[in-house]
Amino acid sequence: MSILIRGGTVVSAEGQRRADVLVVGETIAAVGPDLDAPAGTRFVDAGGAYVMPGGIDPHTHMELPVMGTVASEDFFTGTAAAAAGGTTMIIDFAIPDPQQSLLEAYHTWRSRAEKAASDYSLHVVVTWWSDQVREEMGVLCRDHGVNSFKHYMAYKDTIMCDDEVLIQSLLRCRELGALATVHAENGDLVHVLQQVIYDQGITGPEGHPLSRPPEVEGEAANRAIRLAEALGTPVYIVHNSCADSLEAITRARLAGQIVFGEVLAQHLVIDDSVYRDEDWDRAAGHVMSPPFRSREHQAALWGGLQSGMLQVTATDHCCFCREQKRMGKDDFRRIPNGTSGVQDRMAVLWHHGVRTGRLTPSQFVAATSTNAARIFNIAPRKGVIQPGSDADIVVWDPERSRTISATTHHQNIDFNIYEGMEVIGNPAMTLSRGRVLFEDGRLQVERGTGRYIDRPCNADFWEAQRVRNRLAAPTPVERG
Ligand code: URP
Ligand code: ZN
Repeated sequence: MSILIRGGTVVSAEGQRRADVLVVGETIAAVGPDLDAPAGTRFVDAGGAYVMPGGIDPHTHMELPVMGTVASEDFFTGTAAAAAGGTTMIIDFAIPDPQQSLLEAYHTWRSRAEKAASDYSLHVVVTWWSDQVREEMGVLCRDHGVNSFKHYMAYKDTIMCDDEVLIQSLLRCRELGALATVHAENGDLVHVLQQVIYDQGITGPEGHPLSRPPEVEGEAANRAIRLAEALGTPVYIVHNSCADSLEAITRARLAGQIVFGEVLAQHLVIDDSVYRDEDWDRAAGHVMSPPFRSREHQAALWGGLQSGMLQVTATDHCCFCREQKRMGKDDFRRIPNGTSGVQDRMAVLWHHGVRTGRLTPSQFVAATSTNAARIFNIAPRKGVIQPGSDADIVVWDPERSRTISATTHHQNIDFNIYEGMEVIGNPAMTLSRGRVLFEDGRLQVERGTGRYIDRPCNADFWEAQRVRNRLAAPTPVERG
C-alpha cells in the first residue's frame, strides 16, 4: 500500500518547505516536489496543511497500578487516543516494586503493551539497589532495547529511591551509556509537609499543592543534576513545573553539562487555581505531581521552551476516573496522582504556542517529536520526515477547531483537565508506519498493531558532547 501526501508544507525541527511525501509500505520512500507515485497509490491532498513527524510522548503511564487501583487508560485505548491527537509513539514506564526484579517488571509491562495500536517503548524505573539490579540494567540495555532508567525522588515508602540508590544507578547508567531520568521532588519533604498540612485540618485537594511547593521540586532537580555532574552522567529531568527546577537546568546547561528538561503541556496552560474549585471532583481531577503552579511559573516554562532550555513536551498521561479519585475523599494524600492529555498535548501546544507566536512550527515539531527521538535515540527512524524513516506522520490542519471535552475525547477517563478549551490546529490525518489510524475525526485502530521500539544506548545526540566534556575536564570519578 502506498500513499502520496501532496501539496503540504513539510515541517522539520530545522525549517519547512513545500513538498510531497511518498509512503510505501511502512516507511517514507521519498520527500520532494511533484513526486510520482506507483500504480494503486492513494493520494491525499494536504494543501494548506502541515505535514509533520507524528508526535512522540515520552512520558505516559498506561494501566499503572497505584494505591490498589489501576489507571483507567490501557495501552490500546491510550495509543488510540494518542493517534487521534497526532501522537504516534509513546514511551511508558515499567515500574518494579522495591525488591522486584527489573526484568520481571519489564516483561509484565511488555505483555500489557502488546495491545497497543501504535508504537511504544519502555523506560525502566530503579526503585532499589543490589548487584542483581546492576546486572539487570545491563541486560535490559544489551538485550531489550532499554536506554533510559527513571528514578523517583518522591513517593516515600513506595517507589522512591534515596540518594544512595540514585548515585549507584547514575554510575551504572554512565557505564552503560544509558540516560538517567528523574522525577525531581524531595520525597522526605513532601512526606513531612503532608502530615503538617493534614494535621492542620486541611484534608481536601487544596492540601496537595501546599505539600509540594516549588522548593520541593527545585531542591530535588538541583540535587539530581549536581549528582549527575559529579558522576559524569547525562540526566533528563521529567515534568518540570516551575522556575525553580528550570533554573537548575539552565545553570547546568550553561556550564556545558548534559542535562535535558521536559515540560508537560498542562503545566504550560493550567494554573493552581484549579485546587480552589468548589467542586471536589474537579479539584481532585487535577491532583498530579508536581502540581499545577502559579502563572509566574507558567511564564517561566514557556521561556524555557522558547529558549531551548526545555527540549521536550510530554503528558505524564495517567488517568484516574472520578470514582477512583474519590479514594481520597477525606484525605488528599489518598487521591491517586495523575492527569490525562495524551490526545490533547499537540493541539494545546499548537494553539497556545504556535498560534500565539511563542513557538515556530519547527520549534513545535522539535518539542513534540524530534527532540524526544534524538534524546532517546530513535532518530532518524522516528521523529523526522525523510526517506527511510518510519511513516509516522501527522497531517496537521492549522485551522481545524476542537473544543476539548470528556464527553467527546477518546481517552478512557470521565474527566478532562482542558474541559471546554477550544484549540485551533488539529490533526486531519495520522499515520503510524504507513497505516491510517485517524482521518477526518474518525479513528481506525486495531489492537496489537503497535510495535515495541528498541532504543540503543550511547545516543549520538549526547554522546559526542559527553566525549568533548571528558576531554575538556575529566570527571572526579575518572580522576580517582
Ligand atoms: O501525578 C503523577 N505524575 N502521576 C503519575 C505517577 C508519576 O508521578 O509518575
Ligand atoms: Zn510520570
